Parts: sequence; C-alpha cells; structure tokens
Amino acid sequence: MPLPERGDDRHGRRNLNPVDRFDAYTRHVNPALGQFLKLSGRDLRLVRAEGCTVEDASGRRFDDWIAGFGSQNLGHNPQVIKDAIRRHLDDDAPSLFVENLNPFAGELAVRLTAAAGPSFEVCFFCNSGAEAVEAALKTALAATGRPRIAYAAGGYHGSTLGALACMAEGIYRAPFDAVLAPFVAVPWDDLAALERALAPGDIAGFLVEPIQIEAGVRVASHDYLRAARALCQRAGALLIYDEVQTGMGRTGELFAFHRNPPRPSAGAQGTGAPPDILVLAKALGGGMVPIGAAVFGEGLWQRAFGSHLRSEIHNSTFGGNALACRAALAALSALSDPAFLSSVRARGAALFAQLAEATSGSPLVLRLTSSGLLGGLQIRDPPHPWFDWKNLGLDDLAGHPTGGALLMQRLFRHGILAQVCGHDWSVLRIEPPLTVDEATCARFVAAVAEALTWLAEMS
Ligand SMILES: Cc1ncc(COP(=O)(O)O)c(C=O)c1O
Repeated sequence: MPLPERGDDRHGRRNLNPVDRFDAYTRHVNPALGQFLKLSGRDLRLVRAEGCTVEDASGRRFDDWIAGFGSQNLGHNPQVIKDAIRRHLDDDAPSLFVENLNPFAGELAVRLTAAAGPSFEVCFFCNSGAEAVEAALKTALAATGRPRIAYAAGGYHGSTLGALACMAEGIYRAPFDAVLAPFVAVPWDDLAALERALAPGDIAGFLVEPIQIEAGVRVASHDYLRAARALCQRAGALLIYDEVQTGMGRTGELFAFHRNPPRPSAGAQGTGAPPDILVLAKALGGGMVPIGAAVFGEGLWQRAFGSHLRSEIHNSTFGGNALACRAALAALSALSDPAFLSSVRARGAALFAQLAEATSGSPLVLRLTSSGLLGGLQIRDPPHPWFDWKNLGLDDLAGHPTGGALLMQRLFRHGILAQVCGHDWSVLRIEPPLTVDEATCARFVAAVAEALTWLAEMS
C-alpha cells in the first residue's frame, strides 16, 4: 500500500490544511536541494523500499546504487533489523538508561570490541558519524594532553566543527574556516609529511580513512597504514581510523583495516595496522536507526575520562539508546557473518571485473578503483562546450567537473540512482547495498557502458 501522498494524518483523516509532503520538503527543509532535484528531473516521490530497490508513488522502480552513502549495507528495510526493532517495541524495556547501567550498550560494546580485535576495550555510543569523530578527537586530546590533531588531507568526516577542522579544503569547510581549530593537514599517502607533522610532539592523534571515498575512492596501501601506525607509536600519537563509510562489511571485511595482510604475530583478525581508535556509524544501525560509535583501544578512554569528575563530561543523551543498540546488535551479527562477507567479496570481484571489461575501451574513462563492493569510476569531462555548468544553467557550479554528474544523470534514465564523490565530481561512486544480486549488477554494468557510449558520441 503506497503511503498517502497528500496531507492525510496517520489515522487516514484528511488534514484540515492539506500539504503536499514532498513539496513541503522543498519549501521547508532544503529549498536549494529540492529545486536542483526538480531541475534535473530527479525529484522522486519515493514511497516504498525493499532490498536494493526503491519505488515512487507512480510505481516506478529504481535500483539504489547510493544506499544511503554506505548506510544501507543490508538493503532497505532488512528483515533482521525490522525484527530487532519490533522485539524492542514489544517488550517494554527502558529506551533510555540515563544515569543507569545500560545492558544493551554493554552487550553491543562487548560484541563490537571483540569484532574489532584484541586490542579494543571501550565503546562510546552516539547518534551519527560526525559525533563519533568528535568523540575520537576529544578522547585523543584528553588522553594525551596534547593540543592538536593531524589528519589526512582530502578526507570527509562530517559537518560538526571538530570534524570540519579535519575536512578537505573546499565547499564544506570554506565558510567556517575562520573558526576551525588549527589542526594539521598531512598530504595523502605522504609518510615523510606525516613524520614532519608528528615531529614537534604536540599531536594527539592522526585521523585517516583507510579509503577516502569522497576524495574519489582513494585506497590507502597496507604499507602506508602500517608505516603510519609505526610513526604514530614512535611519536606517542594515537592512530584514528574513520570507518564510518568503509566499515560494516563494505570492503568484504567487517572493517576495512581487517583487509591488511596478516603479520606472523597478528591477532585473530590478522590485522597488520589496527588503529587506537575506530570510528563507526551509518550501516552500524542497519540502515534504519541512527547510531555512531567510537571504539577505543585498551586504557584510552580511562586515560581521558577515567575519574569520577570526568566520567560524564563527554556524553550524549540518546547515545546508546536501547532501540539503536538492538538494531546495531542485529546489524553486527548479519554483517560479520563470514559467509556474508565472503559473498560480498565474490560479488564485488565479479562486478568490478565486468565493469572493467565494459568500460576499458571508453575514451572517457580515466580510472576504476575498487575494494569489496565499493568502487570509483573516474571519467574525464566530455570535451564539448555544451557540457559546462554555465551552459547547463548552473553558473554557481562552474569550475567543478561535469563528467560524473552527466554519467549519473544518464544512469537515472536507466532506472539507476547513483552519485558522484563529494569532493571529486569526476568520480562516480559505486556503493550498492551489499545484498545486491547478479541481475542488478548486470543492469548496472550495461547501463554504465551505454551511458559512456552516449557521452562519448555526444562530445
Ligand atoms: C568517512 C565519513 N566520516 C564521517 C561522516 C559523517 O557521518 P554523519 O553524516 O553520520 O555525521 C561521513 C558521512 O558521510 C563519512 O563518510
């Protein structure tokens, strides 16, 4: 049954002042985004979602290759998460445990620390990725007593002021630059620069994503992460991985850092370069419930906040609420299942092999990178004056690449929802639900091949 489109209330009674809820979004939530979607013909009225598919009010179905930017790893409305939520609604347990022992947070922390590896001990729970990044930064600062954070340039860590102080240069941070903390940007994949940044001894932690998705799906090498870890250890700085988007199975391992080849002495997860702090969110809530987590190595949280006076100075009222924790426990079980992770690796390998074959002959393709079911297809801008934001009537976007956006727009005509990377619009992100099936992958590959041919012929 489609949801009522106009202002009916939840009992089916007609609202006295009927409002079109979709139009209301444009008017009252995000006018510029609403107008942009309308202009590009993508102002969908989505009413239903299941697995990899979303459906609009007229019954049109779309394959979702955005997947909530890596939140819908289990697909839309996964049964295991719905069941967990229902169980919580049915048993009348407390939802919040403010100033009380929280058994759901306790259980989730046990399971998450065990899943991350033998060196992890404590979790802080919150409601989003940005908040989890804040928790990691504040804990690093408080635990070390040092004043600054170093971060890998080009990253994306969220919209709060602390996270923004570690954000790539550009549109997300520029309006706020004047008030951002003077943290230290370290060029990507540059160990000498990291060593120089750490040399003064005032760096509390180094924040890096094992794969910088928004920068165009840049994959850090195992050697880089291992060397970064050694440099941090030597300098007394903490290594912090932001796995908000790469975590929870996306790369075919539960966490991207688990992909590192094992050293002989490595622990059960065989990781060559575990972080001191692991930052998670998005798919941790099963795609249905907001939850973020910062997972800390042994002793860290205690060093930062382990006195009675300090035990509650970093907190969040709804952080670790029962509903979110129960959804996360179900998500963690499903996503850490070895058979599931192996299916992600197999599906990813097949998808990217087919995509490489289908796109390698295109004069527009510059690069295809992948890891598990995460990828980036970089294309050059079609060399035709029409393909310019000014000529498309969007002067304020001038200077940004158009190629990825044009590809995405063409895919839409094939019934595929896709997006470019936030910091590099020349790269189409490839990030479907991890439950994506072979037929959906085949549709995507065929559509990308057609779209590239169309763009090349038009240029
Ligand atoms: C790597 C990374 N870190 C942090 C965030 C911020 O997460 P949230 O939007 O939940 O605040 C994002 C969001 O896209 C992300 O991709």
